[in-house]
Amino acid sequence: MGVLDGKVAIVTGAGQGLGRVEALELARHGASVVVNDLGTRADGTGADEGPAQSVVQEIEAAGGKAVTAFGDVADWDAAASIVRKAVDTFGDLNIMVNNAGFSRDGMIVKMTEDQFDSVIRVHVKGHFQMIKHTMDFWRTKSKESGGEPLYGRLISTASDAFLMGNLGQPNYAAAKAAITHLTLSAAREVQRFGATANVILPRARTRMTDSGPWAAIFEKPEEGFDTFSPEHIGPLVSWLASPHAHNVSGNLIQVWGKHVRVYAPPQPALDHENDEPWTLENLNGVLGPFFEGKQPIEDSYTLPMA
Ligand SMILES: NC(=O)c1ccc[n+]([C@@H]2O[C@H](COP(=O)([O-])OP(=O)(O)OC[C@H]3O[C@@H](n4cnc5c(N)ncnc54)[C@H](O)[C@@H]3O)[C@@H](O)[C@H]2O)c1
Repeated sequence: MGVLDGKVAIVTGAGQGLGRVEALELARHGASVVVNDLGTRADGTGADEGPAQSVVQEIEAAGGKAVTAFGDVADWDAAASIVRKAVDTFGDLNIMVNNAGFSRDGMIVKMTEDQFDSVIRVHVKGHFQMIKHTMDFWRTKSKESGGEPLYGRLISTASDAFLMGNLGQPNYAAAKAAITHLTLSAAREVQRFGATANVILPRARTRMTDSGPWAAIFEKPEEGFDTFSPEHIGPLVSWLASPHAHNVSGNLIQVWGKHVRVYAPPQPALDHENDEPWTLENLNGVLGPFFEGKQPIEDSYTLPMA
């Protein structure tokens, strides 16, 4: 008996890295899994059906149920066909894990239009389309059942880049911020179906993080616990997908190693109502002292660990 027996999941970008781990984990708990992947290079170029096929083989070899859905999540028709594949093959769709994506880092002064557009497209449009087509299916299902609550989970993948506005990742940071708020908006909307939507912020060593300025942080230790092994991300996805998380919606949850963090919504650091309408001078009287002695944002590569 698995906690996800009878449930049907899609994991996008599940041919390797975090998506592979998440697909294997969902299948291990009993879900039937649609393994989507375009099989791109690390920069999002190219296409290869091999990675998705090999993850399906891994799931089947472990006794699970899976099928491939090759295709680009940011292509409207391809995204619709991934959802259709779940319903046609397994008869339902309960768990939509949006994970596919890539980064093309660079400073703003050097960033090309294509570098910006491609990263926004895969993450923001990709997440939107998979959520949209999933919700279309849930809407029809809900209507057909006379409004009975259904079992639905949307899980999106953001990043520290959203929290921090990472140096050298302006396109990726913007995309992850957009994903976060797209998902929070979806969380409000899917309540009417009895479904939930949450955002995960993983930290793990994959080809996305094993080179460049972040690589040293994610390096595998010579010995001892491997804090940034991607394996540590799977359980959060299966927990959010499980009945345990039926009342968890509209949250940002970060996981790495043996850590888990739930982020509170943004809180005001200063909340002042003035007696008079604002002028530059009286605003300076309030904001000047508040910012006195505070340092500007750091211009380095950082990852708050504690
Ligand atoms: N690795 C980390 O520490 C980390 C941190 C925060 C967020 N993330 C996010 O996690 C997700 C997975 O990243 P990863 O680190 O496993 O990278 P990865 O490169 O190992 O895996 C990404 C997968 O997405 C697939 N993909 C790319 N474009 C696609 C498209 N248009 N349609 C379908 N599939 C596509 C690739 O083929 C690849 O298999 C990404 O959204 C990434 O931004 C990763």
